[in-house]
Amino acid sequence: FSLKNYNTFGIEAKAKEFVSVHSTDELIEILQKHPTSKKFILGGGSNMLLTQDIDALVIHLDLKGKKVIDENEDFVWVESQAGENWHEFVLWTIDQNFGGLENLSLIPGNVGTTPIQNIGAYGVEIKDTFVLCEAIHIETQELLVFTNEKCKFGYRESIFKNEIKDEFVITSVVFKLTKQNHKLNTSYGAIEAELEKQHIKNPSLKDVSNAVIAIRQSKLPNPKELGNSGSFFKNPVILKSDFEKIQQKFPDMPHYVVSETEVKVPAGWLIEQAGFKGKRFGDAGIHKNQALVLVNYGNATGQEILAVSKNIQKTIFDTYGISIEAEVNVI
Ligand code: EPU
Repeated sequence: FSLKNYNTFGIEAKAKEFVSVHSTDELIEILQKHPTSKKFILGGGSNMLLTQDIDALVIHLDLKGKKVIDENEDFVWVESQAGENWHEFVLWTIDQNFGGLENLSLIPGNVGTTPIQNIGAYGVEIKDTFVLCEAIHIETQELLVFTNEKCKFGYRESIFKNEIKDEFVITSVVFKLTKQNHKLNTSYGAIEAELEKQHIKNPSLKDVSNAVIAIRQSKLPNPKELGNSGSFFKNPVILKSDFEKIQQKFPDMPHYVVSETEVKVPAGWLIEQAGFKGKRFGDAGIHKNQALVLVNYGNATGQEILAVSKNIQKTIFDTYGISIEAEVNVI
């Protein structure tokens, strides 16, 4: 079974066996039927690089449904099943004037995978509105609830990437959104500039969402047209004392203060400075508008893209002494 249409990088890789499940009951049934086989859980396929065939039973999570489960005067609690497309879910919340997810418009992938890496953009992360998710333990089929605190969210991190990696299948997620007095976050420079360009002074949720969509479309390739997985690397967080040493040699290096002792450096800048932006190696390349994004021009293999990523990591380390880590899940 070819997985080419099931990963946004558009990599040709084969699954030994493949099944789509449409409900939690179906999922539990499949897990019980195959107690010993190796299993691979597939959501939207938007944050992984397949470097080999999958010698396992691939379970594609096609759980659909979204609804309001509770509300009061100010807030609404919405629940979405894991297989809903993230961007469509965000637009659905905005159409009802529910606030909190507008900055996260147009991020590829499905709702169920968003907690795994605590997706974030333009000053907002999923953890800001996430209440809880339900997840099924693959071994025992037990259903567990993970509250926000239990998820141990960090920058592109959660418990699902660490302590309990590959042990659970997230089946649904609940968010708490605003019904009025929305707290818009437009402080990110690019959003401010976009709203100004459109002469919008008092933006609505829809205006912010549209601004984010415009920014993303100008910088980030559409996976339907050019295979990619968004940011391939995380922005490295380094010690302030190390940064100050590096800065003596590279005074233009941008950085954001993370804490009293740490700063974050944009990996896109490092990659661009190292001369990789827009470069192409066969069908694998670095996007021309955003150096943090690796792209597949058509028939690149996962191994070829991985080789480009290693080349970038080595060059950045040799030049700046900074290690950059993949954000994408390399399979
Ligand atoms: N930059 C360059 N050259 C580039 C790209 C970036 O010099 O080719 C520098 C610029 O100095 C720019 C700075 O990097 O000011 C930041 O760039 P940008 O605002 O595009 O954000 P980013 O740090 O590259 C992160 C997220 C994106 C998210 C944007 C906006 C990570 C790993 N990536 O990128 O998330 O959309 O901020 O908030 O944190 C994703 O995870 O897939 C993703 C796209």
